[in-house]
Amino acid sequence: MTKKLEIYKCEICGNIVEVTHEAAGVLVCCGQPMVKLEEQTADSSTEKHVPVIEEKEDGIMVKVGSVPHPMEEKHYIEWIEIIVDGKSYKQYLNPGDKPEAFFPVKGSNIVAREYCSVHGLWKS
Ligand SMILES: [Fe+2]
Repeated sequence: MTKKLEIYKCEICGNIVEVTHEAAGVLVCCGQPMVKLEEQTADSSTEKHVPVIEEKEDGIMVKVGSVPHPMEEKHYIEWIEIIVDGKSYKQYLNPGDKPEAFFPVKGSNIVAREYCSVHGLWKS
């Protein structure tokens, strides 16, 4: 059973998918069940992943994280997403970009998520 907005990864080929319609089946890739990524919410190392949400006059800025995360070829923030009042917005990033994204939207109920190519899925 999947749930909307859940994220699953194939541990063989590395495919990652986000659920947009929930159903009873098990997601399979490369012949085995995909693994549901759990959203981490607390950093224990010096490297910071928890998204920092800043509400601005003209929108929402999300930075990863309280100390800027590396944006190297093999270790970077692949995307930042916000979910605001039931709408989701995603910004894809590349190595060399700043680990942040600005969304020109307003709302009261804000969740931010990001995916690190090495350390997985994070949420605030
Ligand atoms: Fe990381």
